[in-house]
Amino acid sequence: MSGTPVPIGILTASDRATAGVYEDRSGRAIAETLRAYLRTPWREVYRLVPDERDAIERALVQLCDVEGCCLVVTTGGTGPAPRDVTPEATEAVCERMLPGFGERMRAVSLQSVPTAILSRQTAGIRGRSLIINLPGKPAAIRECLDAVFPAVPYCIDLIGGPRLETDESVIRAFRPAG
Ligand code: MTE
Repeated sequence: MSGTPVPIGILTASDRATAGVYEDRSGRAIAETLRAYLRTPWREVYRLVPDERDAIERALVQLCDVEGCCLVVTTGGTGPAPRDVTPEATEAVCERMLPGFGERMRAVSLQSVPTAILSRQTAGIRGRSLIINLPGKPAAIRECLDAVFPAVPYCIDLIGGPRLETDESVIRAFRPAG
């Protein structure tokens, strides 16, 4: 498959990764997972910001409106701690929310970890971009994306984005007939 690579945003919200206390393993895990899923050529547009609502909102707006990302996957800042503000920033920049994403990811994650209920992760649409929140745990990335990604390409079709094709041996995109 050829063509101009589709830009996809990966946004990590983390005070400690921003300060260099540890590496951003969750952001890397998102890139690895998308590399495994997608046959459509794509390129990563990466941002790492502290857990500050303004910084997260600015990065989301830039990824959607300036970089033209049809999909932005965030990691971190979804929990109940005072500095966890990624869902608030996501809601602030989205015109419409897709609460099913968070519901599904929590339901699947709860089968492996009781504290999955602490994540307030959500998803929403800004213009022609779909934004999906994931928790900040590296182990959560693949688990959460496997649970919702089958619906992602069709969602991006519906909001006027590029057609994303997946490697069906890894994950199958579901598009309703007709
Ligand atoms: N979901 C999965 N799949 N795996 C996990 O380890 N950790 C939970 C939850 N969701 C977890 C998970 C925990 S401990 C917290 S506090 C919340 O996500 C929020 O994490 P965050 O603030 O790093 O986004």
